[in-house]
Amino acid sequence: MSRTPVLASTRAELAALLAQASGTGPVALVPTMGALHAGHASLMATARARTTGPVVVSIFVNPMQFAPTEDLDRYPRTLDDDVALCAGEGVDIVFAPAVEEMYPGGFSHDAVDTGVSVTPGELATILEGATRPTHFRGVLTVVAKLFGLVRPDLAVFGEKDYQQLALIRRMVSDLCMGIEVVGAETVREADGLAMSSRNRYLDAEQRQVAVTLSRALRAAQERSRYGVAAARWAAMKVLKAEPGVELDYLALTAPDLGPAPAVGEGRILVAARVGATRLIDNLPITFDEAPLAPGA
Ligand code: PAF
Repeated sequence: MSRTPVLASTRAELAALLAQASGTGPVALVPTMGALHAGHASLMATARARTTGPVVVSIFVNPMQFAPTEDLDRYPRTLDDDVALCAGEGVDIVFAPAVEEMYPGGFSHDAVDTGVSVTPGELATILEGATRPTHFRGVLTVVAKLFGLVRPDLAVFGEKDYQQLALIRRMVSDLCMGIEVVGAETVREADGLAMSSRNRYLDAEQRQVAVTLSRALRAAQERSRYGVAAARWAAMKVLKAEPGVELDYLALTAPDLGPAPAVGEGRILVAARVGATRLIDNLPITFDEAPLAPGA
């Protein structure tokens, strides 16, 4: 169903729209940074399917989750197209605030006091956090602000950012926020590349190279019945065969990002640079200990 969402750019406008929609059903929130694509559309569809109440999509490129050296200014801003995509997914409210609305007084990495923020704990120091040490503090802080403004009953996040999803679940649980966090499966291009706003930075050759990440994850899935080491070996073989991939990490873990079990459910995650673009991907994986036949 296509309906034109109402655009709110201030906290007051958002509050008024939410008040109007009160009593129509649970409030669902899909937080985004815009540059929306089919992956985001599927998050909105998940939200829409779960409530008769308002579906709110926030579009905010959050400066706090970018390090001063990262691509904040380069991050694509495509509000008109984004609102059109939201209309096709039955979204009721698009909340697209300016930085001053989310960070009253503005935000600057140079400011001595940037105010109260959410400390994400140990889980934010591994994987993405190892190279982006302040990233998840920025993510959790802005998500907590959005939760405070929208007061959703449920919020939908993509599994594509698996560590982010795990940390948001943890924040909601540890800070007793009482919000249902729904994880939505990654949407992929026909060849397996995970959809991402960053894919638009890839030129045609890099686009071909980028699919190596998902191919490596699938190769690991196929070998995981022979154990964690065999799965890792299979993924590394695919990654090493492509010189255009500059690997940051390949991690095989438990579903909660703890150590991988010898037998049972796990997760495999990869991060790599293709040209100047940093890409991430992950998949579920099931480990077993079947003996490897000689030469297999
Ligand atoms: O996943 C994203 O797009 C962002 O990290 C989020 C959750 C909207 C917070 O800015």
